[in-house]
Amino acid sequence: MQRDHYTHANREAWNETAPRHAATQLDALHRAFAEPGYSRLDPTFTALLQRLGLQGRAVAQLACNNGRELLSVLNLGAAQGTGFDIAGAFLEQGRALARTAGLTERTEWVEGDLYHIPAHFDGRFDLVFVTIGALGWLPDLEAFYAVVARLLRPGGHFVAYEMHPLLDMCEAYDDQDPPRLFHSYFRRDPYVENDGLDYYSGERYDGKTSYWFHHTLADIIGGALRAGLVLEAFDEYPHDVSDVFASFAGRRVQLPLSYSLVARRA
Ligand SMILES: C[S@@+](CC[C@H](N)C(=O)[O-])C[C@H]1O[C@@H](n2cnc3c(N)ncnc32)[C@H](O)[C@@H]1O
Repeated sequence: MQRDHYTHANREAWNETAPRHAATQLDALHRAFAEPGYSRLDPTFTALLQRLGLQGRAVAQLACNNGRELLSVLNLGAAQGTGFDIAGAFLEQGRALARTAGLTERTEWVEGDLYHIPAHFDGRFDLVFVTIGALGWLPDLEAFYAVVARLLRPGGHFVAYEMHPLLDMCEAYDDQDPPRLFHSYFRRDPYVENDGLDYYSGERYDGKTSYWFHHTLADIIGGALRAGLVLEAFDEYPHDVSDVFASFAGRRVQLPLSYSLVARRA
């Protein structure tokens, strides 16, 4: 299946990136999580989650990477956290961070393609969330929402806090104001990259091929509705959540740089 081909390639690319991110990020994360109650979530996302209520909740993060956001959600009051990701090398980092944070007992790390999350996880979660650069790795949003809907308990919430899809029309690091538009908003073929995913250092290198998929806002909101989720809130923000588009904030012609979506399983 074409979807599995993309996921396989992206897994290779992410595992290749893990030691690079570790080299620049991991020590600082361990120092941060050694402090009780540490959270690296920004005020917008923190307030959103606190409005929904985290105390005692069972939470899943899909495409959790090294789990620093999931661990933050636990430090903000959630009871149990399960992180799902294809990249075993990042989950290893998550396990180590959980040990540092004293959260091992309250966390579970599941390696594999989120499209194939086993059925025994169905209906287990009060909150399922994705953040910052997750949806773009997914070739099929409809199938993604079907997974979200089955993981949630009735009444449970799905939250996305993500880069705005308008940014897929731009080139990162473009310093023009207004930013130039290079790609169609309705682009369907994936963005193919071969020069690495080390967005922290910004270094380009001869890396494994990865595939990024643009989804319109209609795909993102409509997909949730078609999966039977009830839309509770949708907001757009002028602040960057990606690092990659940091310089797009505070421009004269301000694009929306991020958004949040909250939907509930009926
Ligand atoms: C940019 S990172 C997520 C970022 C996260 N918000 C953070 O800041 O750490 C994207 C993650 O998606 C994961 N991923 C991509 N496709 C996936 C899939 N089909 N199933 C599970 N995880 C996937 C990658 O392995 C990677 O860790």
